[in-house]
Amino acid sequence: MGSSLITLHGKDFQPYLSASQLAEAVENLAARINADYAGRQPLFVVVLTGGFMFASDLLKYITLPCEVVFIRVSSYEGTESSGMVKEVLGLREEVQGRDLIVVEDIVDTGTTMHHLVPKLQSQGPASVVIATLFFKPESLRHELTLNYVAKEIPNDFVVGYGLDYDGLGRNLPDVYVAV
Ligand code: IMP
Repeated sequence: MGSSLITLHGKDFQPYLSASQLAEAVENLAARINADYAGRQPLFVVVLTGGFMFASDLLKYITLPCEVVFIRVSSYEGTESSGMVKEVLGLREEVQGRDLIVVEDIVDTGTTMHHLVPKLQSQGPASVVIATLFFKPESLRHELTLNYVAKEIPNDFVVGYGLDYDGLGRNLPDVYVAV
């Protein structure tokens, strides 16, 4: 992992989690899903854009027969959640009777998942669970069941590995935290 600060839009970030630490957390999470869903064929619902890198790595470790769909739900600007959740876009697959695993980059206030899960549930799936890379327990403002959390983190703003700061930083293989 790079040991130096990076600057995005004039804001400094310091190294927080290396690519290998992330890989280990993601592989452990996938192993739990593989065990829990043995004999089933889940539909992974990946929330764009932040979830793309996590989902890509997670799915490489999933040994179950499964399907993947990408959706988009909310806009996010700066370092504070807007709390705005738009329509769910891109969910054309038939979800009725399916076991859905929502793949999200980070659960912060929980607003996004709080709105998304009921929308998915209204379409009659057999089950809906959330698999998130990061969870900030101190920020949570909604009652939410998080079945799969790769890593709990403090209430700090992080970038890299799919997560952005106003559009920048998603491509970084490591995760950095705002200084
Ligand atoms: P929530 O709705 O407040 O739980 O926030 C969920 C969304 O906010 C995530 O999907 C991210 O896009 C964004 N977000 C929250 N915290 C961070 C962060 O520390 N870095 C980058 N994006 C974040």
